[in-house]
Amino acid sequence: MKTSLTYGMIGGHNRAFIGDVHRKAIGFDGRATLAAGCFSTNPELNRETGETWRIDPARVYPDFKTMAKTEAARADKVDFVVITTPNNTHYEISKAFLEAGFNVVCEKPLCFTIEQAEDLVKTAEDKKLVFGVTYTYTGYAMVKVAREMIANGKIGQILTINAEYAQDWLLDQVAEKAKEGGSNLSVWRMDPAVSGISNCTGDIGSHMENMVHYLTGLKIKRLAATVNRYGHELDLNANILVEYENGINGGYWCSQVASGHKNGLAVRIFGTEGSIEWEEESPDYLKYTPRNEATRILSRSSGYISEKAGATGRVPAGHPEGYYIAFANNYRNIISTILKVKAGQEPTDNELDFQKAEDGLNGVKFIHAVIKSAGNDSEWVEI
Ligand SMILES: NC(=O)c1ccc[n+]([C@@H]2O[C@H](COP(=O)([O-])OP(=O)(O)OC[C@H]3O[C@@H](n4cnc5c(N)ncnc54)[C@H](O)[C@@H]3O)[C@@H](O)[C@H]2O)c1
Repeated sequence: MKTSLTYGMIGGHNRAFIGDVHRKAIGFDGRATLAAGCFSTNPELNRETGETWRIDPARVYPDFKTMAKTEAARADKVDFVVITTPNNTHYEISKAFLEAGFNVVCEKPLCFTIEQAEDLVKTAEDKKLVFGVTYTYTGYAMVKVAREMIANGKIGQILTINAEYAQDWLLDQVAEKAKEGGSNLSVWRMDPAVSGISNCTGDIGSHMENMVHYLTGLKIKRLAATVNRYGHELDLNANILVEYENGINGGYWCSQVASGHKNGLAVRIFGTEGSIEWEEESPDYLKYTPRNEATRILSRSSGYISEKAGATGRVPAGHPEGYYIAFANNYRNIISTILKVKAGQEPTDNELDFQKAEDGLNGVKFIHAVIKSAGNDSEWVEI
């Protein structure tokens, strides 16, 4: 059985955000090497990034279509591709590489429409290809410990859930607009042509939906929402009331105008026997309160963590892990799964622990339901 892979990247030029995080996360375990790419539609940035990563210039492609076609014809074609471009391109690029026979890892939100997402799920299934969607935060060790604790009944029957994802980085843009009476937003996230029907709910709200589902297995049946645009085209703040398939309720809030909050993803799950709370800005810790007992702060890689998921931790307790490692943990499983599938073997449940095209589809349905509800006086929308 092969022990390492090669991959290609679309997007992620040297000054882009998430592509470089992917490269570094994949590098943690040394089991996949970057061998091809189309890092930007800007030829100079594309060339420069290829040089930085010492890619054979013949495998730095001018566009993704040429890349899919040319790589597919090579004997040493890459084993998987990583799509780190803005939202409007995800469907077309994913589809092209699936059709050309490549395993795909794509950024979230998966694509613009529910039909596109369903098509990607089906195409990957039909072609028996691996399709990962990088909902980063499910990669943290303490998230996996929380998931196992919930599954093992540590907090009993779930009664209610509260999740939030608060940032403040777009507040300046809102203030500027108010001052000048016109939009000066330059980021693509605020442009419907690139971002889709939503900014805030799609960019960060979809992580709440995914995280609660990952931790509890609960699926949203219907939701009612308000969104605030503050004079811009797309949402910058959303309040969402959800009802899960088992009838219990939860409340979600996401915002990009919340002063003092940088990357405040927090999930609080309350059950008949206690509660579990986790925050992304201190990801190595979990707040656990058994019913009628004092709150405990559990820390990663500690001897008292009996859950198997504790083994996901990489460095001893007290040495902070973080965003790159969460990503690396996702890639550890994606790469193991691709290696097993290539060898005709069954991946283990642990190896299959990463977010897939179906999870991306759930995210797209969530985004559409929020925007639809908010546009209809917060009426309940079935998912
Ligand atoms: N999982 C996470 O935690 C997380 C975090 C940030 C961003 N994201 C997602 O990652 C994606 C990219 O976000 P970003 O912040 O890195 O954006 P960015 O603007 O920093 O980078 C986008 C990159 O894509 C390239 N690009 C655009 N169109 C292209 C095309 N047709 N062909 C080749 N390259 C092309 C750009 O040149 C650039 O290199 C978005 O979908 C976003 O939602 C996910």
